[in-house]
Amino acid sequence: MTTAAPPKRLFADRVYGIGTEAAFALGGLIAQVEAEGERVIRCNLGQPDFPLPQHIKDAVKRAIDDGLTTYCDPQGIPELRASVARSLSQKHGLDIDPSRVVIYPDGRPPIGFAHMAYSDADEEVIYPSPGYPLFESFIPLFRCIPVPAILREDDGCGLTREVLAPLLSDKTGLIFLNFPSNPTGGVATREQLKDLSELILEKTTSNVRVYSDESYEAITFDGDEHISIASMPGMEARTIIASGCSKTYPWTGGRVGWAVYPTRLEAQAARRLAINYFASIPLYNQWGAIEAIESPLSAPAIKEMVDAFQRRRDVVVSGLNAIAGVTRILRIPQRGRSAECHGRFRRVRQTPS
Ligand SMILES: Cc1ncc(COP(=O)(O)O)c(C=O)c1O
Repeated sequence: MTTAAPPKRLFADRVYGIGTEAAFALGGLIAQVEAEGERVIRCNLGQPDFPLPQHIKDAVKRAIDDGLTTYCDPQGIPELRASVARSLSQKHGLDIDPSRVVIYPDGRPPIGFAHMAYSDADEEVIYPSPGYPLFESFIPLFRCIPVPAILREDDGCGLTREVLAPLLSDKTGLIFLNFPSNPTGGVATREQLKDLSELILEKTTSNVRVYSDESYEAITFDGDEHISIASMPGMEARTIIASGCSKTYPWTGGRVGWAVYPTRLEAQAARRLAINYFASIPLYNQWGAIEAIESPLSAPAIKEMVDAFQRRRDVVVSGLNAIAGVTRILRIPQRGRSAECHGRFRRVRQTPS
């Protein structure tokens, strides 16, 4: 007697494995609680509660009025790629050609594309934990092996050589890093990045890529400096630098982000995926992004937002420190770098507001 084959399932196998960002799921619940008259302070999404600055709004409106509402270069318009290349080269001391830049609907698609492009089935994908969920949630879709790099409070939630070293092997397909970090806010010091890059260059072959998610590059506190691992010797050729407009300008609804690839060949591969998935990013928003990057009005708007975030951070941290049993954080700035030392029963150093 033959047994009947199980009926075909609705979805392909891979769909049942894919995870997602729970932060969005909370949105409905929050709306429900608000509808009942409660006031909610939203901490579910990394969405700055500051408006898009006027000069960026004006640039978008001008572009729409000029009829810039069509398809355009799937890699991103040359003017925006040139702005991104120039500003990141200047900021990190790199030499980025615009042909290595791809413009995306902000920070999520380049994460998925990196999984798709760089890690074969059964290869290992290293990602920070705790970390932004998308680094991990794509892993089952591509049948790769998750290798969490546990961020320890004792290391200031930065990633150290000691933690990364045992995770690297000849099965490593892709390494995700995220500084400033979601959710910890940890910022890697220059020395940590130097250590990590030396380790990566020593222990992996030249085709292993580091995906450096720098979405929160503008949001650092206590005078911390954002440094890209791509600026460490030998790392520009190994690193994909990704960031965008969402958190910096603040413009989560604009959906304009970018990734800088180590080579033109890799940017071309990403361009092909972009054509297949979304064809191009709204032209008018790309002109808004150029204004955001180039205008001298952006820096003071960003400063006002980050200063407000720092004041709020200080209030929340001191409140947390007042709760018995909650671990406290002591920050000890040192000459030329900032070091963090975390320990129980210590007081956080307050920044004057
Ligand atoms: C670390 C990190 N990367 C990427 C993103 C994606 O955001 P967006 O697509 O708006 O750039 C987020 C969103 O919160 C994030 O926290």
